[in-house]
Amino acid sequence: MIRHLLSAADLDRDTATLLLDTARQLGQALTGREVKKLPTLRGRTVVNLFYEDSTRTRVSFETAAKRLSADVVNFSAKGSSVSKGESLKDTAWTLQAMGADAVVIRHPASGASHRLAGWVDGSVLNAGDGTHEHPTQALLDAYTMRERMGRLDGLRVTIVGDVLHSRVARSNVLLLRTLGADVTLVAPPTLLPVGVETWPARISYDFDAILPKTDVVMMLRVQRERMTDSFFPSVREYSRRYGLDLRRAALLPDDALVMHPGPMVRGMEIAPEVADSARSAIVEQVANGVLVRMAALYLLLSGEKGAE
Ligand code: NCD
Repeated sequence: MIRHLLSAADLDRDTATLLLDTARQLGQALTGREVKKLPTLRGRTVVNLFYEDSTRTRVSFETAAKRLSADVVNFSAKGSSVSKGESLKDTAWTLQAMGADAVVIRHPASGASHRLAGWVDGSVLNAGDGTHEHPTQALLDAYTMRERMGRLDGLRVTIVGDVLHSRVARSNVLLLRTLGADVTLVAPPTLLPVGVETWPARISYDFDAILPKTDVVMMLRVQRERMTDSFFPSVREYSRRYGLDLRRAALLPDDALVMHPGPMVRGMEIAPEVADSARSAIVEQVANGVLVRMAALYLLLSGEKGAE
């Protein structure tokens, strides 16, 4: 087993499948239990180190660690020495001295989790680094697709929106390719990253044309907090061309799935009626996130200490 989970690219097909299968088994082990806890990681310490705002990812990791009986320390940049200017390296040494077995890190700088992995002995799990990667999001998305559609091999997945600023899109493209899915990106040309042609995905600018040939459509939030420029003329224009409204959702095959990593901007990239419809798996994505993160913590921490 790998020691850190930093990038979806670190996961080969066997490791990714093992993670998804373990998530499923953990879900089954918890079903019907009065006390929703397994003793697996008793005595282990998991630190949640969040330098960026987060609701679901932080709570999801915390819940996952607690369900495995680990001790959880939540460390947010606000109210810590980080706001006094302490560097990531000094913070890493503090965590090291406290004996953290795993550190879950979210950071605005791409590559922060890789740096941290070089400074601590414990496992590092990337919970989002800048616009780079968010591997556990990709795992929970793949898990949700596999549960609902029964397979990933040959599944036609369309990812739509602000690919440029999305760590979710990058991690999903990498993992889905590894697992045999067929990915298409739909975005305004201004919201595609330089070098996207080298990604293992097709590019399309015609959302309507691709919908009838889509099994899963994944909508991305327009990440305005990361935008330094004007990337599209107006919200209205963006919604008109790239929003998933009822008319567009009707173009999907009957059994197609609608997904969104959250937080959603209802009315912009997705209409509320579509987000709350029977074909939406958005609430399941959140629930599955806990199982997948349990699997990741379990597999990383139950491996031989220090083994690569
Ligand atoms: C995503 C993120 O933070 O990258 N959200 C999440 O983890 N659920 C996507 C987003 O913020 O739009």
